[in-house]
This record gives sequence, structure tokens and C-alpha cells, in this order.
Amino acid sequence: MIYMLDTADIEAIKKAVDLYPLAGVTTNPSIIAKANRPFSDIIRDIRAAIGPDRMLHAQVMGKTAEVMIEEAQAMRELDADIIIKVPVTPQGIKAMKALKERGIRITATAILTPQQALMAAVAGAEFLAPYVNRLDNICADGTQVAAEIAHLIDVYKLDAKVLAASFKNVQQVHEIAKAGAQSVTIAPDVFDQLLVHPLTDSGVAGFVSDWEGVYGEGTTVLDVI
Ligand code: G3P
Repeated sequence: MIYMLDTADIEAIKKAVDLYPLAGVTTNPSIIAKANRPFSDIIRDIRAAIGPDRMLHAQVMGKTAEVMIEEAQAMRELDADIIIKVPVTPQGIKAMKALKERGIRITATAILTPQQALMAAVAGAEFLAPYVNRLDNICADGTQVAAEIAHLIDVYKLDAKVLAASFKNVQQVHEIAKAGAQSVTIAPDVFDQLLVHPLTDSGVAGFVSDWEGVYGEGTTVLDVI
């Protein structure tokens, strides 16, 4: 599983880089707007927080392919390794073809159907981002859509990965993992919940209590070895 964090919250990104096997950060226009700072500053700050080797995805806003391509080039001047998110509109697909020709990495976003994902992959998108919770919200089974995209990648031997997005709970992430999605991007609050279980907390507390009863409070293996 390739884990990414869906946020522009720099403190949350630093925390996740420190704790988790994080492969990158994704943003979208709503996330950027929520941060309400200059776009260039946000991108630079995220890159500084994640280092040179993790992925950073940011989305174009143009209504035409031509503007999307210009935006992508400008973003690449800001961050040479940035992965360009492009929505799966007809103009977006046109932009994907051109960006692919220029060797620019692409994430196809705003995917709600497997056919949108299939065309985006054929157009050159490396990551395919179905919106799981937004589908679940309308009883359209986000997991099933992601599973069908993963199946199409297999059938057509496409050089693309599912990047499942829009999660509101751990169960959705779990269903996506079982369905074979290669990557997920998750908001910080749900990401933290992936490790939560009260029996883990009480189990660890029991180990500490038993150990310290014999070897002393605050001791670790380092004190007894
Ligand atoms: O970036 C796309 C996706 O993460 C959107 O999530 O929570 O706004 O549905 P959400």
C-alpha cells in the first residue's frame, strides 16, 4: 500500500512524515483554499516538510486544456517533481495527453466512474483517484468503483495505479485495501485513526505495568541488557 496524506496542513504533514511510512502528500483546490495562503508558499512549505523523495500532487484549475498545460508548466517551475492533478473532463483528458508527451507525471482526479479512470489511464495518467466517500454518500459504492478500476488496470495491463481518495472512516480504507487499490490518500484525522484500538492501548499498558513491576519504573530493555 502506498500511503499519502490529503492535506496542506504543514504541522500535520510533519507529524505524518515523522511517524508513518508516508509516500507523499496530495492537495486539491479546496484544501489549498482552506489554507488561505499564497499557493507558491504552500507548495514550497509542503516540499520542505516532505523532503525531495516523497510525492507532491497539486491540481490545475484551468477550464481549457491549454490553460491546464500552462498551469502544469508553471507548477513544475515551482517544484520540478510535482505531480499534476487533472480532472477527468474532456479538456482534462486532452491536457493529460499533452502532459504525458512532455514527460510530466499526472494524477487523474474527480473520478466517479471506472470508464473515466480507464480513459485517463490510456491518456497517460499514472494515478487514478476515485472519490470513495462521495460515491458512498450517494449509495454508489465507492469501493466497487475502485475495485473495477483496479481490475481494468490488470485487464489492459495499464501503467497506472488506483489512488483512492475521499475517505471519512477507517472501514472505507479497509474495504479499498481489500479491493486491491495500490495507493490511498487520506486526511490527517482519518489517517491517525488507522492505528487506533483500545485493546492495543490496554495491551501496551499491561506490558509496561508487568515490566516495571520487576525492573523498575521508566526502565526499558536498554537498562537491563
Ligand atoms: O482530493 C480529493 C479528495 O480527497 C476529496 O476528498 O473529503 O473532499 O471528498 P473529500
